[in-house]
Amino acid sequence: MTIESDKDMAGLLRIGKIVGLTLKKMQEACRPGVTTGELDAIGAAFLKAEGAHSAPIVTYKFPGWTCISLNDEAAHGIPGSRVIQVGDLVNIDVSAELDGYFADTGATMPMLPVASIKQKLMDCAQTALQKGIGAAKAGRPIYEIGRAMENTVRGCGFKIIRDLPGHGVGRKLHEPPSVPGFYTSRAKELLREGMVLTIEPFVSTKASRIYTAPDGWTLKTPDGSPAAQFEHTVIITKGQPILITAV
Ligand code: CO
Ligand code: CO
Repeated sequence: MTIESDKDMAGLLRIGKIVGLTLKKMQEACRPGVTTGELDAIGAAFLKAEGAHSAPIVTYKFPGWTCISLNDEAAHGIPGSRVIQVGDLVNIDVSAELDGYFADTGATMPMLPVASIKQKLMDCAQTALQKGIGAAKAGRPIYEIGRAMENTVRGCGFKIIRDLPGHGVGRKLHEPPSVPGFYTSRAKELLREGMVLTIEPFVSTKASRIYTAPDGWTLKTPDGSPAAQFEHTVIITKGQPILITAV
């Protein structure tokens, strides 16, 4: 969506803060020995207390309030009885709706100690998000975001997972335009002031594609290589974007 009123701005800032805080609460509870279902319950309780609704449930009937994806799972992991282990990379993705406004955020965290390549992967994905945010200015083509992220990831010796783009957000969870994590001339639409988008590089050590696991939801790397993602919902301005999910 594009912001058209003070009401839009207030509504987005509100849900942005809620999903940001939900992610933070879940990260604080995320440690070896906890199940992904227990983490999801913490997120669900926080969202409910704020009057917010899980966007994956509302939009896709996803079997969980949040998505929790480990190691070679890039996205849409189903919370359940699985126990988080030392050495895991844990990605938590929280998206929710309140008063008709949606926001979406995600982050990967290491269950220390982790293999050094997993730490490097996480650091690279985080840097890629920062570079993508830095490239997101009104008047520029959308592909500048992907170009900045792809260049960062290539410099790390890793791969952008090309199947998983950022997206418009705000009135729904997933709206146009698509915000690819890599340069493509197809993403030539110009960024405009007030546009609401997610920027979310998905990075893997080796894989540039994903497949859907037999559970019908979880998106995994075909070769088992680990993945990391960081995501913010942003509002485009002439200068640096407003990060509504940063808390
Ligand atoms: Co997300
Ligand atoms: Co997203």
